Amino acid sequence: KDKALWSGRFASSPAEIMQKYSQSLDVDWHFYKEDLEGSKAHGRMLHHIGILSKEELDKIINALSEIEEEVEKGLLQPKISLEDVHMNLEARLIEKLGPLGAKIHTGRSRNDQVATDYRLFMKKSITAIETKLLLFLEVLLQRAEKDVDIIVPGFTHLQHAQPVSLGHHWMAYFWKFTRDLERFKTAYKTTDVNPLGAGALAGSTLPLDREFTRKELNFAVNSENSLDTVSDRDYLLEFLFAASTFVLHTSGLSEDLILWCTSEFDFIEPPDAFCTGSSMMPNKKNPDALELTRGKTSGVLSSLYDLMINIKGLPLTYNRDLQEDKRPVLHTITTINMILDVLTPLIEGIIVKEQNIEPHLNKGFLLATDVAEYLVAKDVPFRETHEIVGGIVQYCVKQNKSLEDLSIEEWQRYCPAFEDDIYSILSPRLAVDRRKTFGGTARVEVKRQVAVGKEMIITL
Ligand code: ARG
Repeated sequence: KDKALWSGRFASSPAEIMQKYSQSLDVDWHFYKEDLEGSKAHGRMLHHIGILSKEELDKIINALSEIEEEVEKGLLQPKISLEDVHMNLEARLIEKLGPLGAKIHTGRSRNDQVATDYRLFMKKSITAIETKLLLFLEVLLQRAEKDVDIIVPGFTHLQHAQPVSLGHHWMAYFWKFTRDLERFKTAYKTTDVNPLGAGALAGSTLPLDREFTRKELNFAVNSENSLDTVSDRDYLLEFLFAASTFVLHTSGLSEDLILWCTSEFDFIEPPDAFCTGSSMMPNKKNPDALELTRGKTSGVLSSLYDLMINIKGLPLTYNRDLQEDKRPVLHTITTINMILDVLTPLIEGIIVKEQNIEPHLNKGFLLATDVAEYLVAKDVPFRETHEIVGGIVQYCVKQNKSLEDLSIEEWQRYCPAFEDDIYSILSPRLAVDRRKTFGGTARVEVKRQVAVGKEMIITL
């Protein structure tokens, strides 16, 4: 039977149920590569300060590489009696090298070790997410460029408001996701700190060279305070917050698109590859990928709360509660990777049904603001113009007319300032192009945004 590496203090071993309760292998075995990488760096540092000879170091490095191969080939199966990834890999090193293997943990604790593994793991995970997010941003830019000439009703309160370019709509999400990418980058910076050498909580009596391991492991800086180091999980919270705003955005985008592919809207056709049918109703084509994206939001948002609630009220320094910090983060990493893998080709493959959108542009008095602003140009104060046009809309609703149907006499009944040129502004396309304010929906402005966006993602 395998003895825990801390068994010296104990007269008997933990209960079987305690071993199951205590183990973290189902989550931290994911860190085996980082754990071995950390051990190699630590070993090299121990040689550098004269604790390991060159020969000892070489044996340790070789054995650690062999262990990596054993794990990859499935030859080394972790045991729950050895609790976690750290003790399983160390026990294997001792099995291979005897007393020499037992030297690797000199000046190290699992408390700084787990922080090191986790930060290395997160740096890789965040980088991979950033790469996928960039591809997604590129697809949004392409869509915006392609759809800039398509005019759709813009909504507030889910009621028709003003016409906008579909390119403008895609670009709105582009900017949201650009900020998410920046938040992931900030989380990366917070993560990029070397904890190794903090020991269990207070540092070490041995002359450990933290700068040496920092360089070995390619961390930007060393952590400043050992007590902070072994208890700090801020970097995970920052990652989870970035992930949370990201899923809030993917959820909103999904909701827009789910609406747009209802029979009532019928603005778009999502690709078959991301829809499913019904087991009973042969007519169904359901936008499941989008619904799942909306649904998966809750799990990610919960992850942020899960970890915050875990940390709330923990005294310094390491407490075993912190072992529960992995499941929410791993869940989130898996989920947002899948969301990106699905949404990127889905958005790319959407077919826009322009002919179905067109009739909607004449509903809901989308151009009422344009009429009010037309009167402003004729020097009528805006509050008055608002009131006047409100009355016209009310009249049209009663008469079942649209603005274009009104005769010049009808217009002038509400305000003498109306002239024949009123008809020339009643075009949704023109209404879009007249909104040339910086960041407005005019096609020239959307094209400007796309150009800025293209420049920007090169630097991200
Ligand atoms: N498995 C532990 C974790 O994930 C490693 C640190 C354990 N330290 C301790 N003193 N028990 O947090």
